[in-house]
Amino acid sequence: MERETVIVLDFGGQYNQLIARRVRECNVYCEIYSYRTDIEKIKAMNPKGIILTGGPNSCYEADSPTYTKELFELGIPVLGLCYGAQLMQHLLGGVVTRAEVREYGKTEVFVDTTSRLFGNVSPSTICWMSHFDYIAKAAPGFKITAHTADCPVAAAENEEKHLYAIQFHPEVLHTQEGTKMLYNFVRGVCGCAGDWRMDSFVENSIRAIREKVGDGKVLLALSGGVDSSVAAGLLSRAIGKQLTCVFVDHGLLRKNEGDEVEAVFGPKGQFDLNFIRVNAQERYYSKLAGVTEPEQKRKIIGEEFIRVFEEEAKKIGAVDFLAQGTIYPDVVESGLGGESAVIKSHHNVGGLPKNVDFKEIIEPLRDLFKDEVRKAGLELGIPRELVFRQPFPGPGLGIRIIGEITAEKVRIVQDADYIYREEIAKAGLDQDINQYFAALTNMRSVGVMGDERTYDYAVALRAVKTIDFMTAEAAEIPWEVLQTVMSRIINEVKGVNRVFYDLTSKPPGTIEFE
Ligand code: XMP
Repeated sequence: MERETVIVLDFGGQYNQLIARRVRECNVYCEIYSYRTDIEKIKAMNPKGIILTGGPNSCYEADSPTYTKELFELGIPVLGLCYGAQLMQHLLGGVVTRAEVREYGKTEVFVDTTSRLFGNVSPSTICWMSHFDYIAKAAPGFKITAHTADCPVAAAENEEKHLYAIQFHPEVLHTQEGTKMLYNFVRGVCGCAGDWRMDSFVENSIRAIREKVGDGKVLLALSGGVDSSVAAGLLSRAIGKQLTCVFVDHGLLRKNEGDEVEAVFGPKGQFDLNFIRVNAQERYYSKLAGVTEPEQKRKIIGEEFIRVFEEEAKKIGAVDFLAQGTIYPDVVESGLGGESAVIKSHHNVGGLPKNVDFKEIIEPLRDLFKDEVRKAGLELGIPRELVFRQPFPGPGLGIRIIGEITAEKVRIVQDADYIYREEIAKAGLDQDINQYFAALTNMRSVGVMGDERTYDYAVALRAVKTIDFMTAEAAEIPWEVLQTVMSRIINEVKGVNRVFYDLTSKPPGTIEFE
């Protein structure tokens, strides 16, 4: 059976993954492609609908991203958002020009509720606007279906041709009824049945993996993070002992994490698979000695991981498949999907072991967003603590220790982070904050403890609220909780005499420190 798919054509906007996620929340499968994708390829995918994203350009300029007009003649419903809306109007004969004032932020929009797109939406509704250019005149055949105080065409449509243009961003939560609008598009206008669900994903994947693997052998690098754990669970359910997981403890894991992973996937755990744990701490610390530059640290950690993994693989001998816990945002962020730029070299994509003897790569989670991976994990019976574990970067504590990494610094950051996590959980805040951790600055300062002068490290506490980890805001943690964490860290963790709280949002900061 063919899977119902909606395609997002990426024109370089910042919310593109969010659009795809929102569509999937309507139980419709959705993929992102660059605007450079040939129309023949799009046609071959037979999508039920196409969404054109926002983007930073002006559609009337010669070198701006564009698309063939043929897209609007396929009979497939098209929804243009922001730049996508302007481009649609521009290509079909409307007028797009630069406005005198930029419309930015939460804006009251007056919508025509007889439009299929705005069914069940309030006539006056708050939407997120972010644009300089605006549609001054809708294209021939289009009816204006929304406006604001400053924007005469906040939405326009040609119902007969199934073409819809909206100037604002329904995908961001600031647009209060945005999800309804996207639902109206994919389930109403496009007529999708909405049968994309996680239980069927797990069932179908198990069947597909069995078919693909046959009686072959599969090797998986298990990091203990959510993605590789769910991949391990899925593969184990599909092929049992044909799967071997290599878990490399690089000495940059959180406190007790290595043992926790072993408890779930090791011989005493609930899964049927071959589990190999490699304790490679010393090896990593010696490779990293004296290295301070963040990208170099990341590269060393990534490469060393591959070397260790290769050595283990050699002992196992030839395998048929190398499995990876790659998920959809990894694919998009590595520049393989849409238009997004590579900001940091991500540890779990791109670097493949060269000397491992395998025939093919298998990536069972490649199509899933994080929340979907979690749902699949629960379906598979992986413990909740592991499934809802907060994101942890591949290079681990290596990028939470600013400057040189030493065993001593790892101990400090592990202990501080453990206390921080414990207090956050005790205060019942762990569900509200999306990611929180302690990092070790390379700053030492003078303090006084008892009657003695100290000259010790400063720990930085980070906690962020975010939906997609592309943008984030510092979380507001009650003062008493921060005070408790501070005094516990200074009292219990030797080598620390100062604690900072990081207020930086992303952008301009990143979530991690390096
Ligand atoms: P940044 O620091 O880029 O982090 O704002 C965004 C999210 O990505 C995680 N992160 C990584 N995850 N390998 C990973 O698997 C990496 O190299 C890596 N670097 C950052 C980070 O923890 C945050 O959730």
